[in-house]
Amino acid sequence: MKAGRRVLLVGATGRLGMAVARALAQRGDRVVLTGRDPSKLEALASEVGSPGPPAPFVCADLLRDDGPETIVQGVRSTIGRLDDIVLACGPFPRTPFDALARDELVRTLTVHAIAPLLLVHALATDLADARGAVVALTDAGVTRPYTNHVAYLTAKGALQTGLRALAVELAPEVRVNMVSLGIVADPEADADPLRMHRLATRSPLGRFGTVDEVVHVLLALLDATWATGEIWGVGR
Ligand SMILES: NC(=O)c1ccc[n+]([C@@H]2O[C@H](COP(=O)([O-])OP(=O)(O)OC[C@H]3O[C@@H](n4cnc5c(N)ncnc54)[C@H](OP(=O)(O)O)[C@@H]3O)[C@@H](O)[C@H]2O)c1
Repeated sequence: MKAGRRVLLVGATGRLGMAVARALAQRGDRVVLTGRDPSKLEALASEVGSPGPPAPFVCADLLRDDGPETIVQGVRSTIGRLDDIVLACGPFPRTPFDALARDELVRTLTVHAIAPLLLVHALATDLADARGAVVALTDAGVTRPYTNHVAYLTAKGALQTGLRALAVELAPEVRVNMVSLGIVADPEADADPLRMHRLATRSPLGRFGTVDEVVHVLLALLDATWATGEIWGVGR
């Protein structure tokens, strides 16, 4: 297992991001946390830094054109340089077919694909110098689409293609891999309690995943020194 790395975690304040932050800190990595909400970031930074000083964090909205550059500047002014990047960001917008519009497509593509690709591009020299890795969370729905999420699934498909292209551009110094997830948390479950059961039973394993199961695979891919351009499916 590699440890003691400097890892940028994008989407650190999300359900999965928080667990990834804790796991990286626990194995001795230095994590730079990013998200939009300063109070959530501050609380997480104190927790993962404990008992030492808070972990560094950067507030940045990836919908803004300067979002990726804000993160790069935040890295430079805190830990300086990076070894690895974990991409766990972005919303899960519901876009019913009848209401699908340009604005939502552009926003979702920006936060899930354009900004992450520009961020990796901007930090490519750091990654190469460190023989580093990028691991991104993507969605099993890219290859097995579900309804009401055309914008999100399109954006995740663009992210997958873009990162696979970057895996070729950045090889052999930098490895770029993805974890393609089934459902861990379903934001629409409250509105339709039967939905959870219906969706879970579609999976051969008959249940949703756990955050710990995702973290396990993500850390394994960060450390997988003979893998690049791969998409590891879990929970399908
Ligand atoms: N959870 C699942 O079941 C599941 C399944 C398949 C794939 N995934 C993928 O796994 C990743 C993590 O999922 P999750 O459930 O942990 O997501 P989540 O709880 O919704 O968290 C999303 C994270 O992205 C950040 N974010 C959202 N919009 C942003 C923006 N415009 N600029 C910068 N940061 C932004 C949020 O920051 P703030 O807290 O500041 O808003 C938060 O840190 C996502 O890429 C998701 O698509 C998740």
